[in-house]
Amino acid sequence: MKPLSNNPLVLDDPERGIFKVHRLAFTSQEIFDLEREYIFGQCWLYLGHESEIPSPGDYVRRWIGGRPLFMVRDEDGQIRVFYNTCTHRGALVCRRDKGNAKVFQCFYHAWTFDTKGRLIGVPKEERFGPGFAKEELGLRSPRVGTYRGFVFVNFSTNPPPLEAYLAGAKEVLDLVADQAEEGMVVLEGSHRYAIRANWKLMVENSVDSYHLVPTHQTYFEFLDYLAQTRGAPQGKTGKKLERPERVVALGNGHVVLEAPAVGGRPVADYHPLLGGEEIRREIEEVKARTLARLGEERGRRVTEMGRNFIYFPNLIIVDTRATNLRIVEPIAPGETAILQFQLVPKEEFGTLRFERRMHSYLSFFGPGGLATPDDVEAVESCQAGFAAGEVEYNDLSLGYAKEDSGVTELPMRVFWRQWHALIQGKPAPTSWEDPIAAR
Ligand code: FES
Ligand SMILES: [Fe+2]
Repeated sequence: MKPLSNNPLVLDDPERGIFKVHRLAFTSQEIFDLEREYIFGQCWLYLGHESEIPSPGDYVRRWIGGRPLFMVRDEDGQIRVFYNTCTHRGALVCRRDKGNAKVFQCFYHAWTFDTKGRLIGVPKEERFGPGFAKEELGLRSPRVGTYRGFVFVNFSTNPPPLEAYLAGAKEVLDLVADQAEEGMVVLEGSHRYAIRANWKLMVENSVDSYHLVPTHQTYFEFLDYLAQTRGAPQGKTGKKLERPERVVALGNGHVVLEAPAVGGRPVADYHPLLGGEEIRREIEEVKARTLARLGEERGRRVTEMGRNFIYFPNLIIVDTRATNLRIVEPIAPGETAILQFQLVPKEEFGTLRFERRMHSYLSFFGPGGLATPDDVEAVESCQAGFAAGEVEYNDLSLGYAKEDSGVTELPMRVFWRQWHALIQGKPAPTSWEDPIAAR
């Protein structure tokens, strides 16, 4: 790769505790194209969850890594993923975001494919020449892999096995999946929003505890107000967010930030201050069952700790008050689409699911919630600021050399180290931790 600037894209100087990212990484079309090739063209990408298509014929349509795809459960119950392009002249074969179908008929000239992708109908077939091979014109598929219900695709010809690529991320997916007695399922419905900012700014934001109090000030004022009106003890709610954090680099750029969950898991309302007896009892019941099922140590980790998880490169799981899945889809250097779902225990119903969890999700993570609009404003503001030029680098050195367990930008550094290696076509680093930070 020819240098885009005389200076490196990522400045990583452990001796001085300096970590900087060149702003070209967020603005350059050339870098965006390299990401498409070396990151989205090579890595296993998150596509969706098996529970989104429970019955034969169920399908969902997605754009992942710039490519149109759809995932369908075939007539035998097997999950299949197809590139969403007709083998005739290219039209999108699947034209709805979700549904159920026995066959997929292309609207342009009516070629028809079954749920296994086979071409089963061609109008005026007899008029094609002798070389026309219907059996070779089925829909094409990327590589597909699943782990604990999470479905991934890979566009390269010779990818590593999914499990090897997941590396330590498997444990986080296990912790997420183990919350449920009967399995976690994606709740019907999704949120989709577009951001005028680079995709990596949204990834950074999702593991950024440094921004919580300043950016989400309105939210904390709102909590304080609620606490006051409900006669809860006085106190600054934002203050209580200063909690110990544990960052674990999981390999291949995946990283998790674990901290005691604010609001009490696994069915948090706004805040324990506001919960009241009924919620406390519900939380305790779920917790007791989880501990009985998973044992004391793991049970506590599942029910008491929250986690912000980056699956490199395109999935974020914020598993705190609710379990929020965000698929990050880069559209252009300064444009990103987010497709967001909620994952819930299959067995959970009643007030737990429909009041506590839904309310918590909608009021905080939803695009009309009290957090996401602030975050979108913040990342769009950064992208707008980059146009100033002049300032070459962003600084991501917070917490670099400190041995305490306070707020740190380490999760972002883990992400960027992987990004930097891949973008140069280099082998992935073997260690992602800060060389001198003891964590
Ligand atoms: S493009 Fe699909 S049938 Fe012609
Ligand atoms: Fe935020």
